[in-house]
Amino acid sequence: SQLTGVTLKSYCKTKESSERIQRALMDNEFMKHLEHGQILTIMDCMHPTSLTKGCCVIQEGDDGSTVYVLEEGMVEVTKQGKKLCSIGEGKVFGELAILYNCTRTATVTALTDIKLWAIDRQGFQTIMMRTGLIRHSQY
Ligand code: CMP
Repeated sequence: SQLTGVTLKSYCKTKESSERIQRALMDNEFMKHLEHGQILTIMDCMHPTSLTKGCCVIQEGDDGSTVYVLEEGMVEVTKQGKKLCSIGEGKVFGELAILYNCTRTATVTALTDIKLWAIDRQGFQTIMMRTGLIRHSQY
């Protein structure tokens, strides 16, 4: 099938980063319902990226394709110019557009230089569906 043709790439991480990502995923309202194996695979496939202070990470209304975990720094979430909240280290963001297949629900801006872990839609959805396929094939 189309799914089995997708190769998942894993990226090296320190023990601290691995644990921070796992905690972030398990702490997130929407991700915490995933199976432990899915959380571990998402963690494994996340790649590092960084942005400087003031950069726009996510623009409200855009098509979303990446889920992030904040490794270092702070970001601000705004909607129609109004501040919703600030997000610090060890938090997931950018999950809503991918989970609900909608456009970005808010703008996320870097308040400091930031380091992020990222996974794209294709990798994320492959992990979600593959686990389902493997589970299904066991019956
Ligand atoms: P997404 O809609 O993909 O992109 C914008 C992100 O901002 C969204 O996912 C959430 O991760 C985050 N976000 C949206 N609304 C709020 C809110 N009210 N509080 C905190 N984070 C939010």
